[in-house]
Amino acid sequence: MTASHISAPRRFPDGFMWGTATAAYQIEGAVAEDGRTPSIWDTFSHHSGRVTNGDTGDIACDHYHRYEEDLDLLAELGVSAYRFSIAWPRIRPDVTGLANERGLDFYKRLIAGLHDRNITPLPTMYHWDLPQSLEDVGGWTNRDTAYRFADYAATVLERLDGIGKWTTFNEPWTSAWLGYAYGHHAPGREDIGAGASATHHLLLAHGLGVEASRAIRPEVEIGLTLNLGTLRSGTNEQVDRDATWRADGNQNRIWLDPLFRGSYPADMVDLYSAYPPGFSVVQDGDMATISSPIDFLGVNFYGPGTVMGEGREREARMAGYNVGPRPESDAINSLGTIGVSTPGRPVTAMDWEIDASGLRELLVRIKDEYTDIPLYITENGAAFADYIGTDGAVRDPQRIRYLDQHLDACLGALEDGVNLKGYFIWSLLDNFEWGFGYSRRFGIVWIDYDTGRRIPKSSFHWYRGITANNELPELSTALQARY
Ligand code: FCB
Repeated sequence: MTASHISAPRRFPDGFMWGTATAAYQIEGAVAEDGRTPSIWDTFSHHSGRVTNGDTGDIACDHYHRYEEDLDLLAELGVSAYRFSIAWPRIRPDVTGLANERGLDFYKRLIAGLHDRNITPLPTMYHWDLPQSLEDVGGWTNRDTAYRFADYAATVLERLDGIGKWTTFNEPWTSAWLGYAYGHHAPGREDIGAGASATHHLLLAHGLGVEASRAIRPEVEIGLTLNLGTLRSGTNEQVDRDATWRADGNQNRIWLDPLFRGSYPADMVDLYSAYPPGFSVVQDGDMATISSPIDFLGVNFYGPGTVMGEGREREARMAGYNVGPRPESDAINSLGTIGVSTPGRPVTAMDWEIDASGLRELLVRIKDEYTDIPLYITENGAAFADYIGTDGAVRDPQRIRYLDQHLDACLGALEDGVNLKGYFIWSLLDNFEWGFGYSRRFGIVWIDYDTGRRIPKSSFHWYRGITANNELPELSTALQARY
């Protein structure tokens, strides 16, 4: 028996949902068409100077015009589901005014095209493109934005048919903390107190969205997607373990506790009380709204992190770690942590550590500590330095290896009794990777940004085998040995 036959292909449960994911601003382009108004990402990409190469989403993958071609790619890929997001500024461009029919029409065509191809739509209501007019009056630091979101949620629930599962938010952590506290994402604010109040208003908006869904479409399932982390302490010393627990509070417990236990973790409320308004924005009744039961939870996972206490750089180096550059913003030190990494460990082009054991660990923790509702991996994937070969093909064995390891971790989690129902690769297409612009490619389809041409990469063909057979094939030993 050769090494490549050590284990048989491993099967996923019948009905396991296979998909890929995208988001409106990252792929659509057509930013000024059919009544769309600017979002905070239009403003940020054009004016902040913080996006690599000054890239913007003005054209992106031109999906708004090429969506039929992209739907055909999905059909060829054999996925059973497609996760995409709806652009709020296309639907309620004037926020308080009437719904924009031309914006709704685009998503109606997209949803109909999915149904024609037997693909389940999994739309997200909010993937970071807040209408700029709402940011002008405080954005997510303003409680009123949560009510404006509820209006928008009601509009899409009422007007878009044929959806069995809705997701309210994608990664509210990223909106609140990268957007309002650390300044890396739109709207680019650097204010810890704003990060905390945005956290609460995003969660409140989610809860209002769930209530709207129950009232308007009691038959549909509703959930949200979080980017939870597996955070490991760099040493066993108390100071590093405490720091790791604080980082865990900000990334995991501050979301999971209110959603599944109805309250914020006391240590986080305490920590952010030093940064007004912090969690003083919470009002009576909010926690009941936020903890309205949901039907499923989406989890985005890219890699685990290792944490130590602030000021422990010397100890970190002595323990053999690399220490990242000091954050430019003092804001980041509100948690009193530093991020460290192990030299020589494989990383992606984002410099994110590759370690699929973190995914299995995370899924088991959610089950053990919080909830047994169905879980979906709504994003998992990797950026690598892909290129077109002389024969015109794009070969991405590293991505295949990464995806294989994470699907293996999903099988492990299933063995551990995790209620995992589906998996979505980020992303169908190379696209606008936020602060990194077009400099990072996550797609299983290559985009030629000059011509819009799409070239399925080898990972696309590999994934097609998985969706067809519902099992993870053994990778060739050559590929395993190299990556
Ligand atoms: C996630 C985002 C997604 C994409 C991936 C790489 O945080 O939800 O839009 O940018 O990271």
